Amino acid sequence: MPNGTHTRQDVWKLNQWDPTILWFAKAIADMQTRPFTDPTSWRYQAAIHDYTPADDPNPKVAMPSAATQKTFWKQCQHGSWFFLPWHRMYLFYFEQIVAATVTKLGGPSGWSLPYWNYSDPGNPSARKLPTAFRAPKLPDGTSNPLLIAARAPGVNQGADVSGAADVELQTSLSKQSFVAQPHGGDPGFGGPQTGFSHNGASVGELERVPHGLIHMDVGGQDGWMSAFDTAALDPIFWLHHANLDRLWTVWMGRAGGHANPNANNWRNQSFQFHDATGNVVSLSPAQVVDTTVAPLRYQYQDVSDPLGPAVAAPLVGLQVEQQPPPEMVGATTAPHALAEQPTTAHLSVAAPTGPGLVAAPSGAAQRIYLNIENITGTGKSTGYEVYLNLPPDADPQQHRDKLVGILPMFGVAEASRSDAQHAGSGLHYALDATDVIRRLQANNAWNPTDLRITFVPRRRGDVAPPGLSAARPGGAIQVGRISLYYA
Ligand code: C2O
Repeated sequence: MPNGTHTRQDVWKLNQWDPTILWFAKAIADMQTRPFTDPTSWRYQAAIHDYTPADDPNPKVAMPSAATQKTFWKQCQHGSWFFLPWHRMYLFYFEQIVAATVTKLGGPSGWSLPYWNYSDPGNPSARKLPTAFRAPKLPDGTSNPLLIAARAPGVNQGADVSGAADVELQTSLSKQSFVAQPHGGDPGFGGPQTGFSHNGASVGELERVPHGLIHMDVGGQDGWMSAFDTAALDPIFWLHHANLDRLWTVWMGRAGGHANPNANNWRNQSFQFHDATGNVVSLSPAQVVDTTVAPLRYQYQDVSDPLGPAVAAPLVGLQVEQQPPPEMVGATTAPHALAEQPTTAHLSVAAPTGPGLVAAPSGAAQRIYLNIENITGTGKSTGYEVYLNLPPDADPQQHRDKLVGILPMFGVAEASRSDAQHAGSGLHYALDATDVIRRLQANNAWNPTDLRITFVPRRRGDVAPPGLSAARPGGAIQVGRISLYYA
């Protein structure tokens, strides 16, 4: 157990083999020797996030009991207002397990998980994988457990993992509300109100960008970071999530009255984990909203606002629950199949008549959300860019002003499976299309009877990287419904 407050450091501000990084590698190697039935083993820790036997890249070994698996595995919370608190708890116990392993191996006490700030405008290497995670060997010549072969082409060669749009923070950090509006509206910073949700309703803005995109950018089509059930086997997963956890603190600290949900069904939802000795422990969101006090007691090296001081947003006078529900003004009636080439769907949009006409509270500008609902399938795509009224055969790169948002396909296979815990209704993204639509209207390029929505697939990885035993079957991906809402 850590004594006192400890600090999670920016990995790019550490030397390649700073003790924090080197001891992480050594602890992973040690955790990898533990049996799968040991809650502190590397593989058990990853299975807490998600586990599918068919995607397990490791040889078959003795497994924990079905009851244990049911209680502790496949717990990750996505498409839910539990996304941030659940991953915070998950990292907290993981960090303790690594720290205990480091001291057992003779290292320093108080090991802290570093974070990967891929959005750092002051670091030209920010979007490259930190060097220790792509080095073949540790300094002593042994193999490096931080290097995972199953990543997108170029990532391990030091290419930029992603473009600037994939790590932009303006969209998420300027969200006023933590919680999403009801169906069709603002996805919020932290996601929609749900029950226990391994995957659920619309995805919160931070979970979409940069979270989902970084997963797909590192993992590519087939790599470990690209699927729930293998993501946490890649050590960079933990630094990615430490950064998201840090961004939650950054968002809370911004001007504009940002607040966590105060509903009891958010604050008191309990989640179970194992501590460093393998004992069962539990936490609820109310216990983890402030990282600097017990039980968490950690802080981040830098929680300054990357966007500069926030312009004090007009205070929203009504709670989300009191606002008029978002009004749907158009929806497709048939599923739309996505493909390896751009595809276009058409939507007829009516003028708002009901709640959409009511002025937003406190004069806040009314927003328009393009909803991409029920995205399901087993197809291999890292994601899609969504454009409005892109001219036929145009180069999308020349029309970035028509880009409404990017849809990461992280979790699409898992969200499509129906089983005891999940409805299988797929991914749901709500994109703020207000600015693009206002521009189209100003340029006389808006025809409400024919709004064209073009899905441009993102670059495909070349070949499956080595190290994958089970290639996921390539199938189709389809969108169940496209809808436009005023909120
Ligand atoms: Cu639970 Cu980044 O995933």
